[in-house]
Amino acid sequence: MFGIFNRNRNSSIFSVLGTDMHCHLLPNVDDGSRNVNETVSCLKTLSSVGFKKIYITPHFHANYPNDEADIQKRYEQLTKELKAYVGQGLPEVAGISGEYRFDHQYARRAGVDKVIPLPGKTLLCELALHSSGYDPLDDFAEYKKLGYNLILAHPERYPYLGLHSDAVIKMKDMGMAFQVNILSLNGFYGETAMDKGFSFIEDGIVEYLGTDLHNTRYANELMATARNSKVQSLLKRHTFRNNTL
Ligand SMILES: [Fe+2]
Repeated sequence: MFGIFNRNRNSSIFSVLGTDMHCHLLPNVDDGSRNVNETVSCLKTLSSVGFKKIYITPHFHANYPNDEADIQKRYEQLTKELKAYVGQGLPEVAGISGEYRFDHQYARRAGVDKVIPLPGKTLLCELALHSSGYDPLDDFAEYKKLGYNLILAHPERYPYLGLHSDAVIKMKDMGMAFQVNILSLNGFYGETAMDKGFSFIEDGIVEYLGTDLHNTRYANELMATARNSKVQSLLKRHTFRNNTL
């Protein structure tokens, strides 16, 4: 009985964010959703925890050298297929963008004018999970000069990037925003990433939270995270800019 009340009370906790601007739900283009059914299932979960609007952000990096024109075409196909689910409570799928990897192999490739930004000429960027000696700051600065607003995805997941490191301070100084993964806060990527995720947010430098949802395993974890009292408390104490996208 209490369990039922608990679930109902907490089910929409991410409605304060409204928009999810980081997920991999374009079928078969990266390590995310494999088909439309899986995408629909994940979208239902996103809706059930309170998200109203979604931007899909497939990987663009050496392992997934996606082509923007092809991604646009596949996105149009997906939006056609999702029409069959109108009225079934799915969140609005508002657009397609990308999660652009900046590393030795890819930064210059991402530099061409083809990139698909989020609204407000905003680009979601990621780094390699393990340091390769590549310093992204010059490439980020180039994008800033071209008028892009940059968001660094999941800073808590890079072991080499400390909260008060020079790199983070420089990124903040150049106007980069930070996006922590919601699932990090439930320990999905380990304890270190979880602690760092909370610390980045409590330090006041995180402007966005994203699900980085890939598939139904992630969706199940998202539902568990919605019941996490530490996450609930955090959402009451901090505001984020997801709704501006
Ligand atoms: Fe991602």
